[in-house]
Amino acid sequence: MIIKDAKFVISNTDYKQCPTDGKPEYAFIGRSNVGKSSLINMVTNHKGLAMTSSKPGKTQLINHFIINDEWYLVDLPGYGYAQRGKEGRETIRIIIEDYILNRDDLTNLFLLLDCRHEPQLIDMEFMEWLGENEIPFAIIFTKIDKLSKSKVKENLAKYTDKLQETWDELPPIFITSSEHRIGGDEILDYIEKINKE
Ligand code: GTP
Ligand code: MG
Repeated sequence: MIIKDAKFVISNTDYKQCPTDGKPEYAFIGRSNVGKSSLINMVTNHKGLAMTSSKPGKTQLINHFIINDEWYLVDLPGYGYAQRGKEGRETIRIIIEDYILNRDDLTNLFLLLDCRHEPQLIDMEFMEWLGENEIPFAIIFTKIDKLSKSKVKENLAKYTDKLQETWDELPPIFITSSEHRIGGDEILDYIEKINKE
C-alpha cells in the first residue's frame, strides 16, 4: 500500500470521543518506550506525525491518525511504566482497556515487543487478556537495529517457544526497525489485506 496522506485527527482519553465514521482502525500497543509512536511515523513515512521521546510515558492519550482518508492508525499510551506510580498506571490501564474492549471499529491490534528483551510477564499476561477477550492481534518486534541478526533470531525463538506454551496458533509476527526503516511495508500490506476482506 502506498501512503498518499497521513493526518492527525484527534486525541482523547475516552473511546466514546473517538471518530464515528466507521472506518477500520488499527492500533499500536505495548510497554512505554517500546517504539509505538516512532513506528507510526516510520510506517506512514511522516516524521513528527506521532510524538516520540527517549523518556518513557510520552504518549498519554488515544491518538487517531487518518491514512489515505480510508482507515485510522491509533497511537496508544504505553503500559507498565513504573515511574508513573500506581494511580497513574491504573488511569492508563483503564483508558487502554476501555478502548480495546469497546471500540467497535478496532479491526486489529499490533502488540509491540522490544526485541532486546527476554519474554516479559507483563506482555505475556496482556496477550492472554487479548485472547480471553477475543481481540485479534499481531506481534511486532521493534528496534532490531540494536541487535545482531543472530541475536534477534535467538530472542525471537525464545518468544515463540514461550508463546507456544499458551497458544496453539501463533499470531502474525513482524520484525521492524524504525531507525533503519525495516518492516513497514509488510505491516502496510497486512493492513491492506485485512481492509479488503
Ligand atoms: P510511550 O509513548 O512512552 O509509550 O513510548 P513509545 O512506545 O511511543 O516509544 P517512542 O516511539 O516514543 O520511542 C521511544 C524511544 O525509542 C525513542 O528514543 C526512539 O527514538 C527510540 N526508538 C524507537 N524505535 C526505535 C528503533 O527502531 N530503533 C532504535 N534504535 N530506537 C528506536
Ligand atoms: Mg508513544
